[in-house]
Amino acid sequence: MLTHEENELLTRVEGDAPMGQMMRRHWTPACLTKELPEPGCAPRRVRLYGENLVAFRGLDGNAGIVGEHCPHRLASLAYARVEQSSLQCLYHGWKIDAQGRVIDMPSEPEGRRAERIRHKAYPVHEAGGVVWVYMGPQDAVPEFPLPPWMDKPENRIVVSKIHEAANWAQALEGTLDSAHSSILHSSEIRSDASVQGSTDRSDGERLALARPSVDLAPRIQVQPTSYGFRSAAFRKPIKDADTTDYVRITIFIAPYTALPPPSDTWRPAQAFVPMDDHNTMLYFFAWSDTKRLDQDTWEKESSAKIGVDIDREHRKLRNRSNDYMQDREAMKRGDFTGIPGIPFQDFAMQETMGAIVDRTRENLGASDFAIVRFRQMMVQAVRDFQAGLPAIGTAEPRVPLNRLRSFQALLPKGTDWRELDASPEEIASFRSLHGAEPKAA
Ligand code: FES
Ligand SMILES: [Fe+2]
Repeated sequence: MLTHEENELLTRVEGDAPMGQMMRRHWTPACLTKELPEPGCAPRRVRLYGENLVAFRGLDGNAGIVGEHCPHRLASLAYARVEQSSLQCLYHGWKIDAQGRVIDMPSEPEGRRAERIRHKAYPVHEAGGVVWVYMGPQDAVPEFPLPPWMDKPENRIVVSKIHEAANWAQALEGTLDSAHSSILHSSEIRSDASVQGSTDRSDGERLALARPSVDLAPRIQVQPTSYGFRSAAFRKPIKDADTTDYVRITIFIAPYTALPPPSDTWRPAQAFVPMDDHNTMLYFFAWSDTKRLDQDTWEKESSAKIGVDIDREHRKLRNRSNDYMQDREAMKRGDFTGIPGIPFQDFAMQETMGAIVDRTRENLGASDFAIVRFRQMMVQAVRDFQAGLPAIGTAEPRVPLNRLRSFQALLPKGTDWRELDASPEEIASFRSLHGAEPKAA
């Protein structure tokens, strides 16, 4: 449970809200590269931290991100013509370049000083199928850090995105909450004593997941790090439960990214990017260290196919207004939720809590331990930031994010999971943070 003040600190990202200001110290996903498919293509509206922006690709091929509303009389630049490396407003023809300079004012007499006007514009970096933007202080733009999936060849990274009508923290808490997966997603995740971890099984048209456990009440432990934390969910396996634990490790990278445990096929990463206080854009990445991945298959698997699951703006076709098309007949036939697709099951639960859930009214349990730690960590990070300390995840020494790996395994009981699969920098970062945390009650 949080106080009202803590809930506001945790969730609010617009304007001067300290969480939004802290998040702006990180490079933020703004749109998919394929939304700007070619030089001179249609600009795309982007909303981040409550700001309306436009992303475009100039005739030189470079992407730019500027404020949506023209500095003259605020017409939308989403309709602008794309000229060389600038946008030309349709209303009176002013041209604004990717640095925010007004480079032409054809409606004004010669000699009008355009250089006095500075339009909002942010630095852009394209990598891993995404156009990233830096919206923090422009006198100190940090180098682009390689996220965990980013040092792969292009055919080993796939990415899709979906709009969620809920606050960013609420959406992220879904991924940090291991317990719900065995219940909410129980029709998608089969139990199978013969598998070694979570495994993709071909199931007719689509892949299905299998896990070696039927335990619905995982015990949770959390190991803080300099970038966020690792959390472990321990479940009793179907086989050898006296000597073995089934352990699923999820990684939280502050401020809004999570690496859920991998399957045979994918290593997933999810970024819960705040559009404003009440809306989030989910970026579903998958990558593989060894296999070539297929974008089309990933869009189907993540329920993010345009025209089937979402519209061109990535808004869901099944949503609160049609009760996610829940099928009660399918439930009678044995489907647990009547809502097809793991992400849509999550949306149905998270969006209908209210866009910002009232965390003063909850009754948390032992299985919510990772969520409790996430909230404590982020509220403390915001308070530190307000006191003048660096934003969480930006201070030296930093753990190289491209080496982070979530995992899952059947482990002999008593194995210390905290340093398994961790890089030397990560292990040093755990040790500097006073070792392990106490277990959940
Ligand atoms: S409003 Fe854009 S040029 Fe006038
Ligand atoms: Fe879920």
